[in-house]
Amino acid sequence: MTKLTARIRFMLGALALALVVAVAAPAGAQQRNPDNSVNPTASSVKEDQLFKELDRISGRCTIPDQKACTIEQPAGREWRHFHEVTLRWIGAIAILGILALLVLFYLTRGMVRIASGRSGRVLVRFSAFERLVHWMTASCFVVLAITGLNITFGKPLLLPLIGPEAFTAWSQWAKYAHNYLSFPFTLGVVLIFLMWIAWNIPNKVDVEWLKEGGGIVGHKHPPAYRFNAGQKMIYWIVVLGGGAVAATGYLLMFPFYGTNIADMQVAQAIHGIVALLFVAAMLGHIYIGTIGMEGAFEAMWDGTVDVNWAKEHHSLWVEEEAAKGKLSPPPGGRMQAAE
Ligand code: HEM
Repeated sequence: MTKLTARIRFMLGALALALVVAVAAPAGAQQRNPDNSVNPTASSVKEDQLFKELDRISGRCTIPDQKACTIEQPAGREWRHFHEVTLRWIGAIAILGILALLVLFYLTRGMVRIASGRSGRVLVRFSAFERLVHWMTASCFVVLAITGLNITFGKPLLLPLIGPEAFTAWSQWAKYAHNYLSFPFTLGVVLIFLMWIAWNIPNKVDVEWLKEGGGIVGHKHPPAYRFNAGQKMIYWIVVLGGGAVAATGYLLMFPFYGTNIADMQVAQAIHGIVALLFVAAMLGHIYIGTIGMEGAFEAMWDGTVDVNWAKEHHSLWVEEEAAKGKLSPPPGGRMQAAE
C-alpha cells in the first residue's frame, strides 16, 4: 500500500515538473528574437503585462514599513498625473490669470485716489499687536508660497535653469523653511481669526457695498464698518484657506499618523489646490493694499489712516469712533486711537 502511494506521488511529481517545463519554455523563448538574438525589451514587456494583469508591482521587502514594498499601483499613477499635470494647470491659470487681471485693472483704473484729498489728520486703525500678527503671518505666507511653488513648479521651471546640484541644495533649504515656518503661520492664522472675528460677520451693509461694486470697481463710496465686504472676503479666505492648508499640511508632514496612502493623496491634492488659489487671492490683496489704493498701505505700516480715507472707505466705522468720542483731536492735531 505504502509502495503504491509512493509511486502515485512520484508520478504526480513528474507530471507537475513536465507541466512547469512546458509552460516555462515559451516564456523563455519570448526573451529571444526569431534569429535567436536576445530581445532587450522582453522584460519591460513582461512588466507591462504584469501591470495589466495585476495592476500593481509589489513584492516582499525586509524593511519594517511594508507599504514600501509596493512600487507602483493604479492610484499612485493617477496621483502622479494630478501632481505633474492637473495641479500645474490649476496653479498656472489661477496665478497668471489673476496677475493678468490686475495688470489690466491697473492700466484701466489706475490707483484709486483719496477723492477729497488728504485731510492731514490721521486716525489709528490697527494696534501694534494687530500689525505684528499681520506681518508675521504675511512674511511666513510669502516664504511658504515660494517654497511650496518650488515643489509644484521647480522641476520643470527652475531645475533646467540652475542645474541639478543648485536645485537640490535650494530645494532642501526650501523644504526646511516650508516645514518650520508652518508653525508661526498657523499661530498667525489662529490669532487673525480671534482678533478680527467680531468685525467680519457678514451683514446687510455688505450686500449694499457689493451691489455698488465696492470702493474699487465703481467710483462710489458705499458705506462700510471697520471692514468692508471685500476685506471680509479676504479675512475668510485667510481663516478658512489657512485652516485647510494647515490641517492638510500637518497630515503631509507627519505621514501615516491615522492616514493611509489614499488619505495622504487626498491631503496633498487639497493642500496643493487650496494653496495655489490662496496665492492667487493674496496677490489681489497685496495689489489693493499697495499700488491699487492710495492711503491703504499706511494702515498696516504705521497703523494710521488719513481721516478722509477713512470717511470714504469706512464711513460707518468713522461714525462709530466719533460716537465713542475717539475723534476729538488731542493737542497737536492727531486723533485718538480707535482701539
Ligand atoms: C501650516 C501650514 C503648512 C504646512 C504644515 C505645510 C506643509 C506642507 C507639506 C508637508 C508639503 C509636502 C511637501 C513635500 O511633498 O515634500 C507641502 C506642499 C506644498 N505646500 Fe504647504 N504647508 C503649509 C502652508 C502652505 C501655504 C500657506 C502655502 C501657500 C501659500 C503652501 C503651499 C504648498 C504647495 C504649493 C505645496 C506643493 C503641492 C504639490 O505640488 O503637491 N503650503 N506643504
